[in-house]
Amino acid sequence: MAARLSRKGSDRPSCEPLVGAVIVKDDRVVGRGFAGQQRATPAAILALDEAGPLAARATLYTNIDPCYDAVEMDACISHLVSAGLDRVVVGITSGLPGSNDLVNRSTFDRIASAGIEVVTGVCERECRELNEAYLKHSRTGLPFVTVKFAQSLDGRIATSTGDSQWISGPSSLRLAHRLRRDHDAIMVGIGTVIADDPRLTVRLVNGRDPLRIIIDTRLRIPITARVLAEGAAHRTLIVTTEMAHPRKIDEMKDLGADVLIAPYEARQSGVDLQELLAELGRRSIASVLVEGGAGIITSLIGAGSVDRLVVAVAPKIIGRGIEAIGELGITSLGDAITFSSYKTHRMGPDIIFDGRMARAGY
Ligand SMILES: NC(=O)c1ccc[n+]([C@@H]2O[C@H](COP(=O)([O-])OP(=O)(O)OC[C@H]3O[C@@H](n4cnc5c(N)ncnc54)[C@H](OP(=O)(O)O)[C@@H]3O)[C@@H](O)[C@H]2O)c1
Repeated sequence: MAARLSRKGSDRPSCEPLVGAVIVKDDRVVGRGFAGQQRATPAAILALDEAGPLAARATLYTNIDPCYDAVEMDACISHLVSAGLDRVVVGITSGLPGSNDLVNRSTFDRIASAGIEVVTGVCERECRELNEAYLKHSRTGLPFVTVKFAQSLDGRIATSTGDSQWISGPSSLRLAHRLRRDHDAIMVGIGTVIADDPRLTVRLVNGRDPLRIIIDTRLRIPITARVLAEGAAHRTLIVTTEMAHPRKIDEMKDLGADVLIAPYEARQSGVDLQELLAELGRRSIASVLVEGGAGIITSLIGAGSVDRLVVAVAPKIIGRGIEAIGELGITSLGDAITFSSYKTHRMGPDIIFDGRMARAGY
């Protein structure tokens, strides 16, 4: 329940943790709170305030270290200790390296030395996935990267003429819009902009539009592209290189888009995507949804920069067409890219694969 409650704060950027807190006394919920519910008040304090005197001898449940969302963690822990709780049950401990780790350890030491029982690691996987973008960004400085595409049974994301709308069914499209809403930024290559002219906004569900990022080495983007004309233009970042014509850069800026000149990466014959991800992390963009196309997806997977892969597999066969993922230089099955965990489910006619890549070590 605490994990579910924390999601109510998910309209905030991913560089802020999702925290939910629930207080239970005699099998009854007596207090609730989530980060973002009331300005900077921590979830645990909101729950304690709602519980009032009922917090005495009660249990506090929270998905991540209690008071993790507090500006003044010390004061928050003091408040928690003095409320007279019996037990604190925690999903994951943030375990951040460096000074935050000390804060983390002393948090639990202080709670335990006040005679409160501490239980950690409950619903751990669910709680870790909930804050995966936040945890990766705070540990590595890099955004969490989700790649999402729709493919036919034979692994094509478009026909040989580039037609891709729509491979998957309407329910999978809604899933795509939910994913957009849940990420800080959405990224596509210039090939996709030219082929599909997408808007890259959130329309089929309620929620904020992410920053739109277009990867375009030489600024081939048409000035009539919908990513420039629809939605807030300043929410579009065009990433190019020194090869772009200065006049086209000015035109993009005049249309209200931001332009970032990134280094050229010869092996990928384009923008240095690893350098770009580091820059996005520095700009507090903690989660990026990559929606294609094949070129950008292949470069990112090949470089080991992808954390999560979501594929909608439609019951269709296309034959020759554009393959979802191109050359990765893998010649032995032992070198195939694998997943640490994944789930599959049906969505209308499609099968959704949702997996976490095996090598993410943060
Ligand atoms: N089914 C789906 O879910 C789905 C989703 C999206 C797209 N699509 C389809 O995919 C097709 C487009 O695929 P695509 O491969 O041409 O498009 P893309 O990945 O969107 O764009 C590729 C282009 O991006 C530029 N680029 C710049 N830096 C790069 C880098 N480091 N690595 C790779 N590319 C880089 C290159 O062009 P420059 O050198 O000119 O910069 C490259 O040709 C379309 O037919 C579209 O309909 C399908």
